[in-house]
Amino acid sequence: MLVPFVGISESIERIKELVAHVSDTGLNVVITGESGVGKEVVAQNLYHSSGRKDKPFVKVNCAALPEGLLESELFGFEKGAFTGADRKKRGKFELANEGVLFLDEIGDMSLNLQSKLLHVLQSGEFAPLGSEREMKTDAWVLAATNQELNEKVKNGLFREDLYYRLNIIKIYIPPLRKRPEDIPLLIDYFLEKYASQFGDKRLIKPDHAIMDRLISYQWPGNVRELQNILKSCLVVGNWEEVINELSFKSEMVSNSGFVATGTNEASIIDDLLNFQGENSPNHAAFSLKKIKRKALDRIEKEIISHVLDQTGWNRTKATKILKISYKTLLYKISDLNIKPPPDTSGKISS
Ligand SMILES: Nc1ncnc2c1ncn2[C@@H]1O[C@H](COP(=O)(O)OP(=O)(O)OP(=O)(O)O)[C@@H](O)[C@H]1O
Ligand SMILES: [Mg+2]
Repeated sequence: MLVPFVGISESIERIKELVAHVSDTGLNVVITGESGVGKEVVAQNLYHSSGRKDKPFVKVNCAALPEGLLESELFGFEKGAFTGADRKKRGKFELANEGVLFLDEIGDMSLNLQSKLLHVLQSGEFAPLGSEREMKTDAWVLAATNQELNEKVKNGLFREDLYYRLNIIKIYIPPLRKRPEDIPLLIDYFLEKYASQFGDKRLIKPDHAIMDRLISYQWPGNVRELQNILKSCLVVGNWEEVINELSFKSEMVSNSGFVATGTNEASIIDDLLNFQGENSPNHAAFSLKKIKRKALDRIEKEIISHVLDQTGWNRTKATKILKISYKTLLYKISDLNIKPPPDTSGKISS
């Protein structure tokens, strides 16, 4: 079922226009943005507004499978192609013929598979594993990633030629905190959508105070997080309780004030020492909440940097030690502005 791409901010309006223009061109599209911003929603909208909407939409998550399995998912295999291949399997390129092939998390594809993908994009042909015969495919390839592909190109982790081939149309979806005007609209949309699923538990619209807090929050998990919070509110049947219980209390900051994300290197102690009462020039910037946030950010940054250094910037290993997901780690690296030491760049492994 098609999810409408809800939003009234300038960036969302521009993306809607782009979707309408691109949908029948067949040009390759890369959709970027943080986790939960709606990359898959945009891919679905591209598909539904194209002439391919009656053909299959096939999604492949390039991060979820090891290289060998991903290769056989994409290209399929003949019976007997390898031990255990006791029957022929059609690949996603074949299944998506005349439709859409959505390559999610493309940034995680191995270099070896990247060259095979490039070959398909250039020739429109591919060979299933164990087959001599090349097959034709007319799948429209849409890709998505929450990684900086150009950085990966610089570090030798993503093929430059593939990057240019895929990136003909680039759609960047900004994080929700950069488009707060979309929040009330998304809330209305989700309330309407979930009301029926949760029986009689219709939730009244948030009052001004609650709405202000929802708009001021930084939404690190973007629209997905908003959606989950609304579901919780509907189940509990009241706004206050859920919003107060959520761990984001500490992150609730005024839009005009301190922004919790994006670490400010100014020392926390400096803030305290420089505060000289109400007449102090920095009075407006001072609050215990802000200082607490800065302190937490600094500690988090130190721990994550330490673990990354210990693992030689092997992020998969780091996630195991830190017991956080890969996506969370990428988010923290970017949000806390953690940089690898100069001698490791180019050697960073995922
Ligand atoms: N503009 C929007 N309008 C309606 N629903 C949205 C919008 N943006 C996101 N959503 C909803 O938020 C959730 C997350 O969106 P989606 O899966 O497209 O994000 P994503 O960018 O692909 O995230 P990830 O990088 O984690 O895969 C989905 O349930 C989606 O339906
Ligand atoms: Mg996605």
